[in-house]
Amino acid sequence: MKVLIFGASGLVGGNMFKHFSQQSDMEVVGTHFSFETEKTVPFNTLDLKAKTNFDVASFSPDVIINCGALTWVDYCEENIDESYQKTVVSTINTLKIAEQFNAKYLYIGTDYVFDGKNGPYTEDAEVNPLNVYARHKLEAENLVFKHNENALSLRITNVYGDETRDKNFVSRLYNLGQSDEKHHLKLPYDQYATPVNALDIAKAAYLLLTDNKKGIYNIASTDFVNRMQLAQLVLNAIPEHQVTLEPISTKELNPPANRPLTGGLITAKFLSEYPDFQFSNIQGYLAQKGV
Ligand SMILES: NC(=O)c1ccc[n+]([C@@H]2O[C@H](COP(=O)([O-])OP(=O)(O)OC[C@H]3O[C@@H](n4cnc5c(N)ncnc54)[C@H](OP(=O)(O)O)[C@@H]3O)[C@@H](O)[C@H]2O)c1
Repeated sequence: MKVLIFGASGLVGGNMFKHFSQQSDMEVVGTHFSFETEKTVPFNTLDLKAKTNFDVASFSPDVIINCGALTWVDYCEENIDESYQKTVVSTINTLKIAEQFNAKYLYIGTDYVFDGKNGPYTEDAEVNPLNVYARHKLEAENLVFKHNENALSLRITNVYGDETRDKNFVSRLYNLGQSDEKHHLKLPYDQYATPVNALDIAKAAYLLLTDNKKGIYNIASTDFVNRMQLAQLVLNAIPEHQVTLEPISTKELNPPANRPLTGGLITAKFLSEYPDFQFSNIQGYLAQKGV
């Protein structure tokens, strides 16, 4: 199976790129846009004719994976056009490439399509996005299934894991905890989700692609925690840390974009089809990091 991953320099795409490269039945090409990582090739999904773009025809992929989007939720709220370009138009453009090569399409969705009134959610729960990022992610997901009937969407939330830039919440906090400096963080106690290791997303994607599954699958861990609890789990693993935490409500934080509060995803569908799959959790991830 020949797999082309757009956004392989990012957190989710990078883990897929690494995991798929280790599989004997997969040939993988991964792209970067502004940040080159090991073995990635350049591609701009917003300019399909750019001369620097990797020559997709030379690879002729069976599967296209789109790991690109504008993921900075508060920035999206104030930069609606840019969010639309980077999330919706980039999906439209990569769908065109999939069509050209008759390739299967894998999209990465989010629990932000829900309003967070009664999470965690199953795949068929009613959507009601609360902010610009979420509306664009939902619009792109709907377009995927409209144009590629065999497509897959893996819905995820609160991703952590190994990444070159260490920009995810868990990695940043882990690095703060390792430093000798004192830090004080205000974190919401009322935003709940199911944080997931990007490597588990890659492992699940491999199984779903190999079995030619289609439709929406929730991919989450066994953790269901709020931001304060998540941070505490990370800091518990670093006894000498100098970080103090202050719980605060989302209302008090007053971010530009509304947040679903009781979010998160239920993986019953995926686990009923893959009962032997073991999702990792934060403690397991930190333990293998060698804390
Ligand atoms: N992280 C989460 O907690 C989370 C939660 C729910 C859903 N998701 C979804 O998961 C997907 C991946 O998220 P992530 O956290 O892995 O994001 P990320 O680390 O920010 O990675 C985004 C990737 O997209 C690439 N990209 C950006 N603009 C591009 C362009 N014009 N052309 C081609 N590639 C471009 C980036 O390339 P460069 O870095 O090289 O510029 C990067 O490789 C997104 O669809 C996101 O909405 C993420």
